[in-house]
Amino acid sequence: MRTARIAAAAALALTVWGVAAAPAPAETGLFGPSAEEQVRLRQAGMGMVLTSVTLLRGGSANAPSVKNLEFPAQNLANWARTMPALFGPATRDVPSRALPAVFENQADFAARAALLADGAQAMADAAKADDSQAFAAALASTRASCKGCHDSYQAPPPPPPKAD
Ligand code: HEC
Repeated sequence: MRTARIAAAAALALTVWGVAAAPAPAETGLFGPSAEEQVRLRQAGMGMVLTSVTLLRGGSANAPSVKNLEFPAQNLANWARTMPALFGPATRDVPSRALPAVFENQADFAARAALLADGAQAMADAAKADDSQAFAAALASTRASCKGCHDSYQAPPPPPPKAD
């Protein structure tokens, strides 16, 4: 009974807080990833993108078949389609290597993410059809999409610490 009352009070408090507190729920961390979590998710995701592309390159180079690469390629495409959602407006103030241009040119940023998604989808389709030539072309356009976005939207890495 007491537990139920506490739960009801907590739910009410949350409701009131949800209405009264200004940031959109997706930015709070209570109902979705916080700004810091979005940054960590997208950075880890990008690391896994690099891992996937490395796997796809190795798996397709001189391989007799590309059939078993459909799964990693399809997942890369799926990730790329949703990835812009991890650049929510509140993440602008979190330290990261995303340049302010990401938040100023959202449509272009999304279009560049779509190039990655399209390249990866073409890889998945080529893998399904076991078409090595089409796979190689799609891999090349996927890899070009990385630089196409990073050149405009990713800050260069910090310089290595001085040895003195
Ligand atoms: C639509 C834009 C876009 C595309 C396409 C894109 N990236 Fe990125 N990438 C970024 C941005 C922006 C960052 C910086 C994110 C941050 O620091 O929060 C980044 C960061 C990274 C990082 C560093 C992650 C870390 O640990 O901080 C790696 C590695 C990376 N990208 C690999 C790739 C590879 C490989 C591809 C292509 C297969 C790719 N990216 C495609 C925008 C993009």
